[in-house]
Amino acid sequence: MSNIPIFKAMELQFTRMLMNWHLNENTRQMPWKGINDPYKIWLSEIILQQTRVEQGWVYYERFLKNYPKIQDLANAKDGDVFKLWEGLGYYNRCKNLLATARKIVSEYAGKFPNTYETLLTLKGIGPYTAAAIASFAFQLPYAVVDGNVYRVLSRYFGIPLPIDSTEGKKYFQTLADRVLDATNAAGYNQAIMDFGATVCKPFAPACIECPLHMHCRAFKETMVNQLPVKEKRLAKKKRNFNYFIFKYKQQVFIQQRTRKDIWENLFEFYLLESDETIHWNQIAILDFLKGQLGIDIAIVNEQPELITQQLTHQQIKATFIRVELKTKPISLKKQGWIPLPKITELPFPKIINEWLTKTSI
Ligand code: ADE
Repeated sequence: MSNIPIFKAMELQFTRMLMNWHLNENTRQMPWKGINDPYKIWLSEIILQQTRVEQGWVYYERFLKNYPKIQDLANAKDGDVFKLWEGLGYYNRCKNLLATARKIVSEYAGKFPNTYETLLTLKGIGPYTAAAIASFAFQLPYAVVDGNVYRVLSRYFGIPLPIDSTEGKKYFQTLADRVLDATNAAGYNQAIMDFGATVCKPFAPACIECPLHMHCRAFKETMVNQLPVKEKRLAKKKRNFNYFIFKYKQQVFIQQRTRKDIWENLFEFYLLESDETIHWNQIAILDFLKGQLGIDIAIVNEQPELITQQLTHQQIKATFIRVELKTKPISLKKQGWIPLPKITELPFPKIINEWLTKTSI
């Protein structure tokens, strides 16, 4: 187990603020929300493992229309169910769906098992789905851990453990269990999933409107875009680095790369790594600056500049965007500001040096 400390007060505050958000601000609507029928919950969770919510919604309704009860699904012909599943892929999951429906009908008289341990014995039901069914249908105190949960927890608590490592998985499961509101597990699990999907989003999260941002470690340390960490991602072949060169008076925002990754310990500008190449224009840049960093007024200089560098195992495409600020935002941590003449004293990766020799900040 990692020795990163977790503070009880911070955990309690997290849960309280998340639940407040859920109660007062969560407007996300989905057909399976708030229901406690384990069959419907199971169906929605299995479908959502395959697809985004908008598409999953259609499949969910189609399945329920054809098979309103678990008995209907259990009695269906394999071919008909496969036909309905078409487009979702991963046919093994569909096979498991059928096998589990039939087992529940034949061995449990059509009644969904109501303990976490028994749920886990069913085909296609792992810890995530078991926790979802146990909490949503039976109000049992099990915390779901999915991509949303990794993202929200790693950011709020500022945890750089890779979420795809054994240590990271254990750590986040433990943390998730600790911050669960055990008196309202269903509400809590729904809250954290919706919060991750609508506020603490993977790309360009809405930090400024987020009611938790003043207590969020990643926000305070300017690490939102570096979390969560994935081991595999660091080994990816093609990477897109979007560098924002923030200038305020005669100071520039600089940070050190501390992670186990390329260019460890070297310095760089504010970085947003993205899965795709982003085609930045003024509106996209200003939207990003406002939504994530709370920067209202900025002068964005000319066209972003692109430099590509081939490393031994990775290709880096770096985009450089110069931004002149009128005030220092709280979202850029105080220690990051360096007087312009001093930056030549810091070691930068080659790609940044190349840009610096071409450009005057
Ligand atoms: N993703 C998977 N299951 C979900 C749920 N119940 N609510 C929100 N997002 C989800």
